[in-house]
Amino acid sequence: MTDHELKSLLEGMTLEEKVGQLVQCNAGNFISNSMGITGPDGEALPAEEMNRVLGSVLTFENAEQAKALQEKHLAADRNRIPLLLMMDVIHGLRTTYPIPLAMGCGFDDALTAECADMARREASACGVHVTFNPMVDTARDARWGRIMETYSEEPMINGRMGAAIVKITQGKNLADPENIACCVKHYAAYGAPEAGRDYNAVEMSERQLRESYLPAYKACVDAGARLIMPSFNALNGIPSVANQWLMNQVLRKEWGFDGVVISDYDAVGELVTQGVAADAKDAARLAMEAGCDIDMVKNIYYEHLAELVREGIVTEEALNAAVMRVLRLKNELGLFENPYHGASEEKEKAVYLCPAHRETARRAAEETAVLLKNEGVLPFRKDVKRIALIGPFAESRQLNGFWSRPGAEQYTVTLPEGIRNLLPEAELVTEKGCGADLGDMDRGGIEAAVRAAKEADAVILAIGEPEYDSGEGRSRSDVTLPGVQMELAERVIAANPNTAVLLFNGRPLAVPELSRIAPALLEMWYPGTEAGNACARLLWGDANPCGKLSVGLPYSVGQYPMPYNRTNTGRPKPGPDGQPVPFTSCYLDGPNLPLYSFGYGLSYTRFEYEKLETDRDSIGREDCLQVSVTLRNAGERRGKETVQLYLRDRVASVVRPIQQLIDYQKVELAPGERTTVRFRVTEKQLRFWNFACREVSEPGEFEISCGWADHLLLTRRFELK
Ligand code: BGC
Repeated sequence: MTDHELKSLLEGMTLEEKVGQLVQCNAGNFISNSMGITGPDGEALPAEEMNRVLGSVLTFENAEQAKALQEKHLAADRNRIPLLLMMDVIHGLRTTYPIPLAMGCGFDDALTAECADMARREASACGVHVTFNPMVDTARDARWGRIMETYSEEPMINGRMGAAIVKITQGKNLADPENIACCVKHYAAYGAPEAGRDYNAVEMSERQLRESYLPAYKACVDAGARLIMPSFNALNGIPSVANQWLMNQVLRKEWGFDGVVISDYDAVGELVTQGVAADAKDAARLAMEAGCDIDMVKNIYYEHLAELVREGIVTEEALNAAVMRVLRLKNELGLFENPYHGASEEKEKAVYLCPAHRETARRAAEETAVLLKNEGVLPFRKDVKRIALIGPFAESRQLNGFWSRPGAEQYTVTLPEGIRNLLPEAELVTEKGCGADLGDMDRGGIEAAVRAAKEADAVILAIGEPEYDSGEGRSRSDVTLPGVQMELAERVIAANPNTAVLLFNGRPLAVPELSRIAPALLEMWYPGTEAGNACARLLWGDANPCGKLSVGLPYSVGQYPMPYNRTNTGRPKPGPDGQPVPFTSCYLDGPNLPLYSFGYGLSYTRFEYEKLETDRDSIGREDCLQVSVTLRNAGERRGKETVQLYLRDRVASVVRPIQQLIDYQKVELAPGERTTVRFRVTEKQLRFWNFACREVSEPGEFEISCGWADHLLLTRRFELK
């Protein structure tokens, strides 16, 4: 349709019909639906009546349902305006890829895009028009369970991965039935809730917000994301969905966003609970004034918006503008011509879990695992006779993590399956040992696990956190290993030193003691469908670990917040971390630095950084500094290394981070091979938000380094003139 046709469609709509376009409800209101929802379901809704005017639907199961929903709606809507069908396709639909936090550890934008590309093919076949993805909240606190949904503690990484996802998912033309629209979330600063407790308020200076939180959302908006979701939290006193500064000023005016804003689940209604709206009607007014176009699931707009317009409290102009944005999105998706978009049962059969998707899922699981420690245990020898597989995850299929689609775990390859695929001859004994649940203190299985460990040639200890202990609404005040898993680890490792520990978790865990005693420690996060195959290949060296931490792992929860890009105090602790030094910035009872720093990760080979060079000593504002890093694979295996480029502004008008990642590149080298990785540094990358909240760069001296956080290996200075 032309814009002119859309406008005349709008003109012919009644007030109720217009409001309907701004309403989203659960598919479960129309069809029996077993898909998970994340908020209160609420009272029974006038579904049939609503169907006549409804604009969009949240979460359904398959192409058949998608078509049925659309058909039923079109038959009831006299304007024949198709529904928008939306779903959280976060790390895959039927084929599940590693959780986003793991993908961040891959430090590979192309790999992240490849997974998103395959997720898009499955989701479009299922009938999805809009995915609530990517989530690019900066998250720096492991207590917050939703840290698993983001890529990193570093907004630059989140922005790069988010933008890559948006581009591949939306494609060049949204009307192509294989493309779907992206909704970026959760705008803004949802990942910084007070005390790490989900949904909690965020108090933050505008400078900090602009420096460390907004850039990732902006990168996705710049990449063309068609929707954005305001966050649940109050930001500096105003919940995002009612935050006019955030939405009208920053998002629409400064960034020029012209797409659709959709509230989070019942976030409009929650304005009442948060105490900024007197009642539901008032909440509808506040959200409309802040430019929230669609109200997700609790019918606040449905029940109150028409009345607000009739009373002149919300202008018809504002209503029309919101409806036009929704109609334009439907039009961009080509729904007026093809309301079913990509929904196809045949296509579902062809693409769900197809070999290409599984292959990428396996590679992604391998390339996002982070080898934290290895005292010569890994890779295991392939001629091993007897393997003991111990721990609560030994036989589990719960290896997908939060936001995997319900039922997807039935396709997940377990550890025993993966090991048997690789080593069909080896004898494999499994023992659970104990549970992983919080509060599960049953030690009954430990003795049998110890016996199995003693009798084995190689032991795999698979421990961690249950997959639904991280994710939405899953905050913890302590981030150690739950239950008696640490006791199990101590006993098993003492029984057999040829033990490799696999960690399955969605948040950084504080495991200093485990890290001290474990002969080998491999952080697997939640690897998804191909978990078992990927683990086996990593353990036996068919795959070489190459993940780097995109978020630091703490010694203890008391260290939070502990951003890798911290600033110096006037009294930094001198010398090695560990012992306190009086009257310096330190803890009396533990280190300052993380247990494992941002950017850290081992390999079965060894990379040597030989040279860091710049093509000049100073640059002007228009120039570009050429940086080259030479490294060599000094070990005996082929491997991948993420070359990380850090910046330090020596003197500025505000304190600047002692290390700031500004770029990265992943390279693969054969044994003995040497390569030079080149980066370009421009004035733009030297900018920061000053005290007056302006984005500036200041002339002076800078340092550029490679290595990883807290372990910068080579450094060069240059000047900005
Ligand atoms: C979550 C969002 C999600 C939405 C729809 C909410 O509870 O915060 O991330 O997109 O539900 O499922």
